[in-house]
Amino acid sequence: MAAPLTVVVLAAGGGTRMKSKTMKVLHRVGGRSMIGHVLDAVSAVEPACVCAVVGHQREQVAPHVLDQLGDAVLAVQEEQLGTGHAVRVALEALEKEGRAPEGGSVLVAYGDTPLLQGDTLRAFAANHEAAQAAVSILSGVVAEPTGYGRIVRDGDGEVLAIVEEKDATEEQRAIGEINSGILAFEASFLRECITRLGNDNSKGEYYLTDLVQLARDGGLTVTAYPIDDVWQTEGANDRAQLAALGRELNRRIVTRWMKDGVTVMDPDTTWIDSDVVLAQDVTILPGTQLLGTTVVAEDAVIGPDTTLEDCEVGRGARVVRTHGQLAVVGEEATVGPFSYLRPGTHLGARGKIGAFVETKNAEIGDGAKVPHLSYVGDAEIGEGTNIGAGTIFANYDGVQKHRTKVGRHAKTGSNNTFVAPVEVGDGAGTGAGTVVRRDVPPGALAVSAAQQRNLPGWAQSRRSGTPQAEAAAAAGNGEPSENAQEIGSDPGEAAQS
Ligand code: UD1
Ligand code: CA
Repeated sequence: MAAPLTVVVLAAGGGTRMKSKTMKVLHRVGGRSMIGHVLDAVSAVEPACVCAVVGHQREQVAPHVLDQLGDAVLAVQEEQLGTGHAVRVALEALEKEGRAPEGGSVLVAYGDTPLLQGDTLRAFAANHEAAQAAVSILSGVVAEPTGYGRIVRDGDGEVLAIVEEKDATEEQRAIGEINSGILAFEASFLRECITRLGNDNSKGEYYLTDLVQLARDGGLTVTAYPIDDVWQTEGANDRAQLAALGRELNRRIVTRWMKDGVTVMDPDTTWIDSDVVLAQDVTILPGTQLLGTTVVAEDAVIGPDTTLEDCEVGRGARVVRTHGQLAVVGEEATVGPFSYLRPGTHLGARGKIGAFVETKNAEIGDGAKVPHLSYVGDAEIGEGTNIGAGTIFANYDGVQKHRTKVGRHAKTGSNNTFVAPVEVGDGAGTGAGTVVRRDVPPGALAVSAAQQRNLPGWAQSRRSGTPQAEAAAAAGNGEPSENAQEIGSDPGEAAQS
């Protein structure tokens, strides 16, 4: 059995370069906060305990951490006196909670490294334990080491110290191997030596990294493991870095899905959040964002230019130029182009939500269709029903929202208004332009439009001399033609498709 592991996540710093009212580690990439990604990676080492050190804007950070990790210990660092001080504060908080690390190891990570992977931490912790080191360093070899602590090794490659940028000699600054910030300690060593750190350095801070020298002075083992993938330990200090990390994270997510059998036509314009789940043979067309907890089943085609947040798309469905949120699209259903699916939309199998249709709290049955230019709010539409073009489900009386229910295999005319609460029965129909204020029984036809009157010769007498009158004259003096018969007896004006 592996020795117990305590993880300390440092997140007390101000992050002033973000220039934001939102705390740095709460800025999001890939649909999660930066610290959310770190906590997720940390869970891979199955820690006995996680302690987050919070300070600046802790009223934002603390609940966010507890939201994701209910039994995390929060340590408050009032003043940011350095990484060594932060870990000391963490150990004191753990002690107070009766969760001080008695044996095993303590792993320290930062809250602003969103690309950090659980596998990396797991391998690092395993190496640390196998080496029985007092301190292990996850290092990295970078082309531009400015700003980082440098790993100083002796002629045999043994790690002697970490020297911070500001305290480094010219020669040390030329070292390309840097401290990523992720460190592992033997718990007993850490608890004993953390109080011995001083702040006699150019920043006047308590450096956690000084523990390397202390360990060496005591004849203990220190090892450093260079990580090839330096993105994983990269932190975001400003919004440009945040965007760069976000793009790289996305590139990795999109690549992973392509390797898992998803076709992505244009990876550069496709954005997929960390928690999205895609099945094999999904196709994603350019300009598509799949966000939150969106799930897409096999053979579905999404895009182009579609944003789906927390949506569920069924097998073989087609969603084109659509904006959707908390909506469910059934198997082989079609949506778009230019559809707006709001929360509570539920489209059944082989159903259709067509062009310029907005839906909300709408249960649309299997094979039911709302093909054109409609608003469907607080509605239930039965299977196989067709809603005519330009229909409004008037759900709001100015005070309250009400529901409309349309039954199975109904056919409603174009340009209808359903004034909720109202019900249209199974197999019922409505004429074009009907304003449905009263329930329509099953099988009945509802018509509410006024009888049409034709005024013969109107164009000739009231618009004489215009092209309109001339056209009427050419057609036979504007006498009523066959097409101008009064309507109302035939509901056949429903738009079909
Ligand atoms: C630190 C390391 C450096 C390493 C670099 C990697 C030390 C002394 N230096 O330097 O070797 O190369 O990270 O990025 O450890 N924090 C607190 N409380 C504090 C101070 C810091 O919570 O009192 C947090 C910050 O919010 C941040 C992290 O610790 O997330 C690192 O602190 P920062 O001041 O940025 O350290 P660096 O100078 O970058
Ligand atoms: Ca830093």
